[in-house]
Amino acid sequence: MTQAPVTQPPVTQVKPLRSAATGAIQGSIRVPGDKSISHRSLMLGAIAVGETVIHGLLEGEDVLHTAAAMRLLGAQAERDAAGVWRVRGVGLGALQEPAQVLDMGNSGTAARLLMGLVAAHPITCVFTGDASLNKRPMARVTKPLEEMGARFVGRSGGRLPLTVVGSGDLVPITYRLPVASAQVKSAILLAGLNTAGATTVIEAEPTRDHTELMLRHFGATVTTERLEDGALAVTVVGQPELTGRTIHVPADPSSAAFPAVAALLRPGSELLLNDVGMNPRRTGLYDTLVEMGADIAFENRRDQAGEPVADLRVKHSALKGVVVPADRAPSMIDEYPVLAAAAACAEGTTVMLGLKELRVKESDRLAMVAEGLTRCGVSVEVGADDSLTVHGTGGTGKGPKGGATVLTAMDHRIAMSFLVLGMASEQPISVDDGAFIDTSFPGFVGLMNGLGTKIGEA
Ligand code: S3P
Repeated sequence: MTQAPVTQPPVTQVKPLRSAATGAIQGSIRVPGDKSISHRSLMLGAIAVGETVIHGLLEGEDVLHTAAAMRLLGAQAERDAAGVWRVRGVGLGALQEPAQVLDMGNSGTAARLLMGLVAAHPITCVFTGDASLNKRPMARVTKPLEEMGARFVGRSGGRLPLTVVGSGDLVPITYRLPVASAQVKSAILLAGLNTAGATTVIEAEPTRDHTELMLRHFGATVTTERLEDGALAVTVVGQPELTGRTIHVPADPSSAAFPAVAALLRPGSELLLNDVGMNPRRTGLYDTLVEMGADIAFENRRDQAGEPVADLRVKHSALKGVVVPADRAPSMIDEYPVLAAAAACAEGTTVMLGLKELRVKESDRLAMVAEGLTRCGVSVEVGADDSLTVHGTGGTGKGPKGGATVLTAMDHRIAMSFLVLGMASEQPISVDDGAFIDTSFPGFVGLMNGLGTKIGEA
């Protein structure tokens, strides 16, 4: 038999994009499904008994990596002709050892949550990701999972590629999070799921609780208790019966942020964003924009499979600078780049405090935002305390100068944020690579241009 030629993994094509000043942004859209909820629905569907039916799953690359991983672990996860995803689970504790490396692409959430899930199975899995993910810290997850009895062999700093040697016999722990991270909390809770006894995570600052809400939806017992020092203890009781469920994934508030800010910045705009997830642990950006003077109406508030949603009516508004307190960071952790774009166009100065975690996202977002804004003629300062100060150009009658190419470092949100800024700048703004936008917001350019924006190839 002849040897098959060695093939390289697919190389993402670099896609420079350019965004020019636009008129009014008008229309009614639904942005793609929530990324956090999409990952979790595939993972929990894969360990439940029976079928999980997912409406509105985000079909971005990050989530498709999770779907592929769940298949390698033995579950079925397919999209039907109507675009509905159906997951046939293997049952808790029955994930199979994958015959391949689990490639999580660009996604920290996929990697960290899945490491927790497989750690509590008697299987060995090798995790890897793209150049961005393989730089990101994993010790924050492996340390508590090691305390539970799983073993890990990774690169220095616990980074990927990394091997998890799981066990069906972990011991439950009580763990106080050293960083405000829903990913770390979720990894421990997911490991606790197949561990006899009660596993508790204590968080000083509330982070997104989609894992807790969805675990309850699938039949697990998850309780929360406020401790004397104000921290929240979240406990999962191990080895529940999980049953396949129907899930309606709301539109992602983190994705809706881009058209919302674009509409706020452009005179004459009125935009309706339908079905947006309004989990209070996710809405810090919207609270901040309203404080800045944004005209956003939260219409038709309702509950959708345990998650609050609303339709957002956004109208052009003159924004003013504000101070964003550090304790708001967990509820808007992914929204600082687009807030910085809004702040660059606001009147006065915006100070964002407590941004240390931005340094370990898909890129060092604090550095990338500061560098990009500077290139676009916006005056910024990064504080030694990891704060960001943006001096807005609003009130001058002109937007930021623009006319620059901004580096994105494989980061979807940096790319989209600067494309939004380009819509309100004197001269167009280019981003060196918009290819990673597909990780969280497939169809971004077409959807935005349908509202009146001018994004094209650079
Ligand atoms: C996420 C948690 C956050 C966020 C990420 C999604 C999740 O990360 O930045 O985009 O789905 O749990 P951290 O837990 O690292 O803060």
